[in-house]
Amino acid sequence: MYNYHPLKLFILILSCCFLTLFLFSGERGVEANADHHHHHHAHRHLYSRRPTKLFVFGDSYSDTGNNRKSEASSWKFPYGITFPGKPTGRFSDGRVLTDYLAKFVGVKSPLPYQWRKVVGGQHLKNGMNFAYGGTGVFNTLVSDPNMTTQIDLFQQLIKQSVFNARDLQSSVALVTVSGNDYSAYIARNGSDQGFPAFITSVVNQLYLNLKRIQNLGVKKIAVTALQPLGCLPRMTANSSFQQCNANQNGLVNLHNVLLQQAVGKLNNETKDSSILILDLYSSFMTVFKNKGDRLGSIRFENPLKPCCVGVSSGYSCGSADENGAKKYTICDDPQTTFFWDEVHPTQEGWRAVYSALQATMHQLL
Ligand SMILES: *[C@@H]1O[C@H](CO)[C@@H](O)[C@H](O)[C@H]1NC(C)=O
Ligand SMILES: *[C@@H]1O[C@H](CO)[C@@H](O)[C@H](O)[C@H]1NC(C)=O
Ligand SMILES: *[C@@H]1O[C@H](CO)[C@@H](O)[C@H](O)[C@H]1NC(C)=O
Ligand SMILES: *[C@@H]1O[C@H](CO)[C@@H](O)[C@H](O)[C@H]1NC(C)=O
Repeated sequence: MYNYHPLKLFILILSCCFLTLFLFSGERGVEANADHHHHHHAHRHLYSRRPTKLFVFGDSYSDTGNNRKSEASSWKFPYGITFPGKPTGRFSDGRVLTDYLAKFVGVKSPLPYQWRKVVGGQHLKNGMNFAYGGTGVFNTLVSDPNMTTQIDLFQQLIKQSVFNARDLQSSVALVTVSGNDYSAYIARNGSDQGFPAFITSVVNQLYLNLKRIQNLGVKKIAVTALQPLGCLPRMTANSSFQQCNANQNGLVNLHNVLLQQAVGKLNNETKDSSILILDLYSSFMTVFKNKGDRLGSIRFENPLKPCCVGVSSGYSCGSADENGAKKYTICDDPQTTFFWDEVHPTQEGWRAVYSALQATMHQLL
């Protein structure tokens, strides 16, 4: 969907100057952007100003290249084989949620923070991606920049006037929390009784983070609800990718209910800014149920089965032995699977999720 026919590209260029007016505006889908009469409606909405930048905080569901090359699987073949054809640090065969939201907002996928000095200043015009695979709102199992630290980095750039107040006012932030706090909790403790209290503390910290991003001047934030962790391939492998773990999904549900309350409170407290929940739980579940998207243009025969897996336990997608021999298998066509590896969707998987989320994206106001 990024390889446009020249005529379509021309239409796209014509329409993209106001495409983004529809963000969060309650208008119908992106496909409506060519209808010029919608243009006037969009102006009546509070947030009709075209977003000019996207700032991204979170983990591997939104990281587009911040992880260290020496450490992350996302920098190893076969990550990135579909797009752009080689590993770029994305935890997928191709594009991830960030890329699809950027497309929706109408900016290029923003530069990963770690490349800010390598490339020229003009690349800052799309915003910046601070997300870092493996992280959580708290410190996880590795010493990665937790979300507080990611926001600290953002604040430093604002202090250095890399981004100014006007930039921020017309920006959108994407915040992903995909469960690394919970993996770390299970690895460290695992007490079932302790879980509800820990979930509460995760959401409370997330609430503070969202508030801080708002206070730095970003008026529109899209935050992900937790996806069904019990349906990730690493959980369903022992049922041959047939059965989601209901117990884990129950805990996910608690996280998501608390998140809804936290966001409700924030939206209630602030007049000139708003937060939208991107419901990855229901969008993943909808894709699983439909075995693809609603229109049937995307098909996954078994949506729970991943494309790229380690040959045995101890190995995962991208693994090699000490001689460099690959220790994973990969499916014939990543377009036919929803999941790429044990945890992350393929580009086609994200495209299906994006399709399910579009209605919500338009509902914010
Ligand atoms: C985030 O990481 C920093 C540095 O490790 C640490 O000092 C801080 O307590 C962490 N914040 C949270 C909320 O866990
Ligand atoms: C594990 O969780 C239990 C229940 O909340 C708590 O009492 C205990 O201190 C925790 N242990 C560790 C090592 O965090
Ligand atoms: C699969 O593993 C999960 C988590 O380890 C466990 O709760 C579940 O009972 C297992 N299911 C089967 C069929 O072995
Ligand atoms: C929003 O604010 C009103 C008035 O302060 C209050 O009555 C209501 O309970 C709040 N709602 C939420 C979701 O916090």
